This record gives sequence, structure tokens and C-alpha cells, in this order.
Amino acid sequence: MRITASKTMVTMLAIGAAAGAAFLISCATIDRVVVAPPMIPGAKYVGMDSCAVCHEKEVQDFKVTAHARIHIEGDADRVGTQGCEACHGPGSLHADAGGGKGKFILSGKEADSCFQCHLDKRAEFKLPHHHPVTEGRMTCTACHNPHGQDINLAKGTLVGRVNESCAQCHREQARPRVFEHEAMREGCITCHNVHGSINPKMLTERDNNLCLKCHAQIALPNTQGQTSIGKFDHTPFLRQGTCSSAGCHTAVHGSDTNPHLRY
Ligand code: HEC
Ligand code: HEC
Ligand code: HEC
Ligand code: HEC
Ligand code: HEC
Ligand code: HEC
Ligand code: HEC
Repeated sequence: MRITASKTMVTMLAIGAAAGAAFLISCATIDRVVVAPPMIPGAKYVGMDSCAVCHEKEVQDFKVTAHARIHIEGDADRVGTQGCEACHGPGSLHADAGGGKGKFILSGKEADSCFQCHLDKRAEFKLPHHHPVTEGRMTCTACHNPHGQDINLAKGTLVGRVNESCAQCHREQARPRVFEHEAMREGCITCHNVHGSINPKMLTERDNNLCLKCHAQIALPNTQGQTSIGKFDHTPFLRQGTCSSAGCHTAVHGSDTNPHLRY
């Protein structure tokens, strides 16, 4: 099997049903593994034009997404896996039956339908601290819109939308505060790796480097290694734990009472 997207080209190793095939995606060559897609027994691929007859809106929206650029050649049985059927599985039985909810088509909500190509994501969701997608408590689509242009809902391009998808479930962290922490404007993902992380609370760093990447630590002149952060001598505090623990800046997401984000 060969999959190409107009912009890019990548080689993928294939295993399982698609053994021996190559997966081409991006200019940068990335090695990937493609796993066999979930299947509906007896169904065949019919291609996106057949879906358009009844799902005009989805097909229109979909044309501008990254996934619409994927194109598969070769392997007779997999022809047509581009487009809608890459996630929903072969659709002939569904189309022949005139469609219908739950009729001979995959919902796409199963993480496995994404992992067939994004196998590296499966590994991220296995890290010790992760969103409970593989446990079935939420889906990839909590944060990704599979059809729309803005597939990365939580990344967003418009100011104000950046943290919107996180706010659906984490209202407390995302709500406005009297004393805002400006770091929040850059988005939750400046501090959290939301697929998964080896660090508690899915933090990008487990120690003070999380904060020091924006708040410079300055050596005070004529002292023995004393350090200042934000024009204030922090030497004794840095020994007590992380910036956000030990009774220091515990209100990392912003505070209603303290400008220094103490509580
Ligand atoms: C003859 C019309 C028709 C064709 C062709 C058709 N569908 Fe559907 N499809 C429907 C109808 C009707 C529904 C039910 C809509 C609803 O109630 O939300 C549906 C529902 C779906 C659902 C939701 C299923 C669920 O369980 O919620 C998906 C996904 C879907 N179609 C994908 C496709 C894909 C992919 C194709 C092309 C391979 C396709 N459809 C072709 C009529 C069609
Ligand atoms: C990248 C994977 C992916 C592709 C490609 C894809 N879908 Fe979907 N689709 C999904 C997922 C996931 C859902 C479930 C959305 C949710 O969780 O609410 C879904 C839901 C649907 C539904 C149910 C109604 C809805 O919006 O929830 C229809 C109909 C549908 N898709 C049709 C299509 C058609 C037609 C295409 C091709 C133009 C397509 N899909 C391409 C992943 C995909
Ligand atoms: C047929 C293979 C395939 C399937 C199935 C698939 N993807 Fe993708 N996806 C790709 C390719 C190829 C890209 C292009 C970017 C790249 O090089 O990774 C991509 C890109 C993405 C991006 C980044 C888009 C951007 O522009 O930033 C997201 C997010 C994504 N996919 C999520 C999903 C989700 C969620 C599902 C399941 C509902 C899914 N994908 C199913 C192949 C696939
Ligand atoms: C809790 C929200 C959330 C969930 C759940 C989630 N993602 Fe993401 N995903 C994001 C965010 C935020 C980004 C952008 C990260 C960045 O740019 O640093 C992203 C980026 C991506 C990308 C493109 C960039 C990359 O890392 O390659 C892909 C592909 C992707 N996600 C696939 C998936 C798949 C597959 C699932 C389900 C198994 C999933 N995501 C579940 C929030 C989520
Ligand atoms: C659909 C709901 C949903 C969305 C959307 C969502 N999360 Fe979560 N989040 C959860 C659930 C469920 C957990 C696991 C809580 C548990 O295990 O008790 C979680 C856990 C977390 C944790 C770890 C909490 C802890 O105490 O260890 C962080 C941090 C987090 N999410 C950040 C984010 C960010 C950032 C986003 C947006 C990119 C996001 N979440 C989007 C539902 C969601
Ligand atoms: C400046 C870095 C930073 C940003 C930006 C950030 N967080 Fe956090 N977040 C943290 C730290 C540090 C913790 C751990 C606090 C602790 O140890 O109790 C945390 C903890 C959490 C938790 C676990 C519960 C709690 O409050 O301790 C959730 C859920 C969470 N963050 C969600 C979010 C969401 C949603 C956003 C965006 C709206 C976000 N975070 C933005 C640093 C950040
Ligand atoms: C993405 C960059 C960024 C990250 C990461 C970041 N901050 Fe900030 N923070 C800012 C900006 C910008 C301001 C506002 C300007 C200033 O006061 O330096 C600010 C302000 C603050 C303030 C208020 C300053 C005062 O007057 O007392 C505190 C306290 C603070 N941050 C603590 C933290 C802690 C703790 C962490 C790590 C959990 C952290 N910051 C991570 C960018 C960041």
C-alpha cells in the first residue's frame, strides 16, 4: 500500500494485513507502522464520491483538511481507504442499505481507527500520566474535529479559542481570574503534554524548568550563587520544592486574591 499526500512524502512500514506496503506522507521521511484498519465483514471500499450523495456537508468540509490530502495507490483491496473510509471503514454495505445510524459503518470514535496511521500516538497514550482515551473514557474527538478545517481544536488559531476545548471539561483551570497568569494566553499546552507524559499532571517538565523557560533565573552579583527571579531573591525558596508547590505560587492558573499567584 502506498499513501501520498499532495504536500508531503513519508515511508511507512506496514505490518499485519497490509504487510510489505509503504506509506508515503511527508517531505521529511518518517518511519511509521501502519496497522490493519478495523473492518466491517463483507464490505468493500466505494470512495468519497459515493458518500457525497448523502453526506454533502461532511464531504465539503472535509476537502480542506490534512486528511483529505492523503492518497492511496496500489493494493487493490485498500484502494479507497483515503477519504472518509480511512476512518469509517469500507462503506459499500452502508451505502447500499441507504445509510442509517449504526448501519454497517464504523463510527470512527474508536481510537483504533486513528492508531492505524498514528501509531506513535498509541505510545503517548501509554505513558504513565495520560488522558483516558485508551480506557474508553473519552475519544480523540474531544480535542480533534475529524472533518473540519480546525482539526486541532485545542491548539486553535484564533485568540480566545486556544483553551476552549480544554475548558469543556476543566472549567476551574480555564476560567478568568482577577490576577491572570499571562502564560495561559499561550495555551494549556505550553505546560501540559495532553496526550500523555511521564510527569504527574501531564506536565511538560517535572521540575522548575517548567517555569524557568519564561522566568529567567538571574545570578545576583557579588554573592555566592544567590539567584533572583522576577527581581526578587529566590535562593531560600528554590530549595523547598517546585515553584508551584511548597506554599509558593500554587495558583499557577491564575489567582483571584494574590498578584503573585500565591493562592
Ligand atoms: C444512500 C445515502 C447514504 C450514503 C450513500 C452514505 N450514507 Fe452514511 N448515513 C446515511 C444516513 C441516512 C445516516 C444516518 C444519519 C443520522 O441519522 O444522523 C448515515 C450515517 C452515517 C454515519 C454515522 C453512523 C453512526 O453510527 O452514527 C457515518 C459515519 C456515515 N454515515 C458515513 C458514511 C460514509 C463514509 C459513506 C460513504 C462510504 C456514507 N456514509 C454513505 C446515508 C448514507
Ligand atoms: C480522520 C478520521 C475521519 C475521517 C477521514 C472522516 N471521519 Fe466522519 N467521523 C469521524 C469520527 C471520529 C466521528 C465521530 C465524531 C464524534 O465523536 O462525535 C465521525 C462522525 C461522522 C458522522 C456522524 C455525524 C457526526 O458528524 O458526528 C458522519 C455522517 C461522518 N462522520 C461522515 C464522514 C464522511 C462523509 C467523511 C468523508 C468526507 C468522513 N466522515 C471522514 C472520523 C472521520
Ligand atoms: C489513513 C491514515 C490516517 C488515519 C486513519 C488518521 N490519520 Fe490523522 N493524519 C494522517 C496523515 C498522513 C496526516 C498528515 C500529517 C502527518 O504527516 O502526520 C494526519 C494528520 C493528523 C493531525 C494533524 C493535522 C494538522 O494539520 O495539524 C491530526 C490532529 C490527526 N491526524 C488526527 C487524527 C485522528 C483524531 C484520527 C482518527 C479519528 C486520525 N487522525 C486518523 C493519517 C491518518
Ligand atoms: C485532551 C485533548 C486531546 C486528546 C484527547 C487527543 N489529542 Fe491529539 N492533540 C491535542 C493537542 C492540544 C495537540 C497539539 C499539540 C501541539 O501542537 O503541541 C494535538 C496534536 C495531535 C496531532 C498532530 C501533532 C502531533 O503530535 O503529531 C495528532 C496526529 C494527534 N493529536 C492525534 C491524536 C489521536 C490519534 C488521539 C486519540 C488517540 C488524540 N490526538 C487525542 C489534544 C488532544
Ligand atoms: C472530554 C473531557 C476532557 C477534555 C476536553 C480535556 N480533558 Fe483533561 N482530563 C479529562 C479526564 C477525564 C482526566 C482524567 C481525570 C482522572 O483520571 O481523574 C483529565 C486529566 C487531565 C489532567 C491531569 C489532572 C490530574 O489531576 O492528574 C490535566 C493536566 C488535563 N486533563 C489537562 C487538559 C488540557 C490541557 C486539555 C485541553 C488540551 C484537556 N485536559 C482536555 C477530561 C478532559
Ligand atoms: C504555566 C504553566 C501552566 C499552564 C499554562 C497551565 N497549567 Fe495546568 N497545571 C500546571 C501545574 C504546575 C500543575 C500542577 C499543580 C500542582 O502541582 O498541584 C497543573 C495542574 C493542572 C490540573 C490538575 C488539577 C490541578 O489544578 O492541580 C489540570 C486539570 C490542569 N492543570 C489543566 C490546565 C488547563 C485546562 C490549562 C489551560 C486552560 C492549564 N492547565 C494551563 C501548570 C500549567
Ligand atoms: C509561557 C511563558 C510562561 C511560563 C511557562 C510561566 N510563566 Fe509565569 N508569567 C509569564 C508572564 C509573561 C508573566 C507576566 C509578566 C511577569 O510578571 O513576568 C508571568 C507572571 C507570573 C507571576 C506573577 C509575577 C509577579 O509579579 O509576582 C508568577 C508568580 C508566575 N508567573 C509564576 C509562574 C510559575 C510558578 C510558573 C511555572 C509553573 C510559570 N510562571 C510559568 C509567563 C510564563
